[in-house]
Amino acid sequence: MCGIVGGVAERSITNILIEGLKRLEYRGYDSAGLALVDHGQILRERRVGKVANLEQAVEESAIVGSLGIAHTRWATHGKPTENNAHPHISGRVAVVHNGIIENYQELKDDLEALGYNFTSQTDTEVVAHLVHEALKSTPDLLKAVEQVVPQLKGAYALGIVDTEYPDELIAVREGSPLVIGVGIGENFISSDQLALLPVTNRFIYLEEGDIARLTRETIEVFVNGQPVERPIKELDATISNATKGEFKHYMLKEIYEQPEAIQQTISQALNGNALRTDFLENAEVDFKNIKQVQIIACGTSYHAGMIGKYWFEQLSGLPCQVEIASEYRYRSPVIVADTLYVCISQSGETADTLAALRDTKKRAAEKGLNISTMTICNVATSSMVRETNHHLLTLAGPEIGVASTKAFTTQLAVLMLLILKIGQVKQAISPEKIEEITTEMWHTPKVILDTLQNDKEILRLSELFVEKQHCLFLGRGTEFPIALEGALKLKEISYIHAEGYAAGELKHGPLALVDNDMPVVILAPKDDMLDKLKSNMEEVQARGGELFVFADENSGIKNKDRQHVVNVPSVSTWLAPIIYSVPVQLLSYHVAVLRGTDVDQPRNLAKSVTVE
Ligand code: F6R
Repeated sequence: MCGIVGGVAERSITNILIEGLKRLEYRGYDSAGLALVDHGQILRERRVGKVANLEQAVEESAIVGSLGIAHTRWATHGKPTENNAHPHISGRVAVVHNGIIENYQELKDDLEALGYNFTSQTDTEVVAHLVHEALKSTPDLLKAVEQVVPQLKGAYALGIVDTEYPDELIAVREGSPLVIGVGIGENFISSDQLALLPVTNRFIYLEEGDIARLTRETIEVFVNGQPVERPIKELDATISNATKGEFKHYMLKEIYEQPEAIQQTISQALNGNALRTDFLENAEVDFKNIKQVQIIACGTSYHAGMIGKYWFEQLSGLPCQVEIASEYRYRSPVIVADTLYVCISQSGETADTLAALRDTKKRAAEKGLNISTMTICNVATSSMVRETNHHLLTLAGPEIGVASTKAFTTQLAVLMLLILKIGQVKQAISPEKIEEITTEMWHTPKVILDTLQNDKEILRLSELFVEKQHCLFLGRGTEFPIALEGALKLKEISYIHAEGYAAGELKHGPLALVDNDMPVVILAPKDDMLDKLKSNMEEVQARGGELFVFADENSGIKNKDRQHVVNVPSVSTWLAPIIYSVPVQLLSYHVAVLRGTDVDQPRNLAKSVTVE
């Protein structure tokens, strides 16, 4: 999704802006641009496609400047063209923008009536013209921006410069993330702190409604025109560990990082085979009273939530609902007192999940209902973490590949820890059961390592998918969400159409698709449903379908004609969804590489979906 980088310094910041944009590439974009203020002029370059194209253009034009803003655009209003790329300029003013200005058409009509010509189809251009217009009556850039912001409806973050203010950078956060990077004699802004790690590890996280004025030496933050204090936070050095290392893609690296990520994640909660006494201590009172759980999430995080539902109900006996945030937020769900609302999100910034959280809190407050909110998240500084009563972090480290892998499996680990904690507080899970599950959790990293040993075999099988157009994934119980997840992974990075189904649904429709050109991936742990799953496999084979089975090594499922079996280490039912995620990730990865797609940045997708 769109990315912002900006800065004000004594040195030229051209290369800092380009490097920052490169670090935002993982978020997904289709064009890039930058504007520098130099000797009373705005120097701008914009290019469609990769940041490398912009870099080349900037090298050729040799533009420099010590004040500037830059942007990667993910098209929402208007196609990915050079004219639509940011920054947008209105005379002396240049603007970059993330998010959406919902009332842009109305504003555009008014501005056109005032004589402004629009050179793009974007919603952003109205902001540049509005600031330009405001500067006619308000000879102060900050004041002009403060005058414009109340006119804008929607969720957005802005970076604004003006040639008349060559030492000032204005930043606005209203519904879309923005951080200030605090340097020495220079200051920066970005929509993602990762972009600024080469220049600083000290950050100010702007809050909704903040407008900031940065100069080389000062940072001032205002809310409704009044100065406010925002703390500077120093970032943990481990977060900067965001390079591909020896791996060909971030996705592969992140798949291989899962043993360590799970180890880190469970270590925060476990002391030997018991839950640490300080784990979620502050939440105990809330947990005692909750009567049900509502999970809200999108995409892969939603699949984690689906597994959470199985676990919550089987282990803690608490009713649990799980819903896609974009549906939940618009269907006026009934808010029930004593519900624990759990948002699951890698980024903590996903627009629909965040909006669903905010609506739920607002409606509960209006009705005087007592609810608790919690975020399961990979980014400690994210909006969701800040806006919920409690949070649990997946300590997966930065996830750069657009396709979520280690964030997903650590979400599952965290969900299990949460369920054990709630079960303990409510005395719904026996200490013996907690000990049994935590013992298994400690084995997870090793079992993942063993499962990764199948990589070469999975690579060999993936060659059989390269020419396929469609694929089915089947599972039962907690492997049903893994089937959905496997299908999502395959389609998003290899562009092969894939569907995940509960294997029991086969006869109710999808069996009609099965023929000798249809690969069917089966997830077959050794559980109570194994015999039923074997019958489903027979149904597929009888129709000529080719089976690719990730099966428990003791399942008795063997290689035969048109049935390829990859043995997965034997694990308990509780751990199976984490372990079976690994082969489906590897399969999708290898198929995508063989098909030559952009694995880490698949077309049309963004890492952090901060607009609806
Ligand atoms: C798919 C994927 C997406 C995200 C979804 C939610 O591999 O990564 O489906 O899971 O966009 O994002 P978060 O978890 O950041 O809320």
